[in-house]
Amino acid sequence: MKIAAIVGSIRKDSYNLKLAQYVKERYKDRFELEILSLRDLPIYDQDIENTPPEAVTKFKAKVAAADAVLWITPEYNGTISGVLGNAIDWLSRVDKVMVGKPSWIMGASMGLMGTVKAQLHLREILFAMGLSSPLLPGNEVYVGAVHEKFDAEGNLIHEPTVKFLDAVVDNFLKWYDTYHRATVAAK
Ligand code: FNR
Repeated sequence: MKIAAIVGSIRKDSYNLKLAQYVKERYKDRFELEILSLRDLPIYDQDIENTPPEAVTKFKAKVAAADAVLWITPEYNGTISGVLGNAIDWLSRVDKVMVGKPSWIMGASMGLMGTVKAQLHLREILFAMGLSSPLLPGNEVYVGAVHEKFDAEGNLIHEPTVKFLDAVVDNFLKWYDTYHRATVAAK
């Protein structure tokens, strides 16, 4: 199974990127996670949405080819980051590659609430027309005080968070099997 991780921070030392890398490594026997960078995506412009730059075409093709999408979002000013909103704008238009694509959400922030507000907004956005992504219910992964939970080598050293991630991954794969493999097979 191939999952595309869309990380809403382009910062070199991003904790959300560390979380994506941790998930990729820890669950490599369960699924293949490709982490997509948003760094090269231009700002969405409706004038060029039908003839977008190559970076957009490539990004959309990777999302289209994935069985599912894992959103890993920071929280900026109580909502999702601009770069993540920008990626969503591209994904929501023309070929609308998120329609029907199962997805799930994680997020990390230095605040104690761990991206609660950003994830609430993201859930709402993903139900919008042009996206319509079936979302894993519950299983809300809020990694708060994230700077205390990773060591310098990028290991997640907070055992309760690791255990919770293990459970969420199990739940995601069960949900995916129950609701989506059958749909794909029937097509
Ligand atoms: C933040 N940060 C932040 N944290 C939070 O919990 N709630 C918030 O609303 C905000 N707002 C915010 C705005 C801006 C512009 C910045 C740069 C930062 C702090 C944020 O959680 C922290 O910088 C994380 O480390 C960002 O995620 P990455 O880049 O480490 O993945």
